[in-house]
Amino acid sequence: MNASAEQEPLSAETLSPAERARRRLIGWMLGVSASVLGVLMAIPLVRVALYPLLAQAAANPWADLGPEDDFRSLTTPVRRVIQIRKLDGWRQITAERVVYVTKGADGKLEVLTAVCPHLGCEVQWNPDLGQFKCPCHGGTFAPDGRHLSGPPPRGMDPLPLSVENGRLRVQYEYFRNLVPTREVMS
Ligand code: FES
Repeated sequence: MNASAEQEPLSAETLSPAERARRRLIGWMLGVSASVLGVLMAIPLVRVALYPLLAQAAANPWADLGPEDDFRSLTTPVRRVIQIRKLDGWRQITAERVVYVTKGADGKLEVLTAVCPHLGCEVQWNPDLGQFKCPCHGGTFAPDGRHLSGPPPRGMDPLPLSVENGRLRVQYEYFRNLVPTREVMS
């Protein structure tokens, strides 16, 4: 037999139908494998790219404030320090935040952030005045958080609260300073 004829590559027309089908199947399997491999390799990259969003979603938990009954008969705001998880760059850290449990104008429990809506100092309850007072520029607020005087552009900011199994819980949020309307910051 002629050696050069043996080495001549077979064209598509010279292949048998079975061989063409076999090659199509191999091509299809290679394509699928490459696609699966590409997806698997992309998953870690996507997770890294989305980490701030995913972590932020997990980093806004509800903090426990204690039994709701403990606050039912309060007559003045009660200070509480809660621990929250938050994102610092790519790390999750635990931070302490001050809130006040108080009663709104309707007599219902309310939880206020202690962050002053002027420039962010920590507002403090002054039992002698019967008001909240900001130590930085003298802004004052009523026990239910209404703005009374000074430079803050609005009242103290209320936080979402819930009662679960008889325990009062609060979800900490951050608000934009220096604006008269309440804007939650992500
Ligand atoms: S930061 Fe509170 S009054 Fe300015």
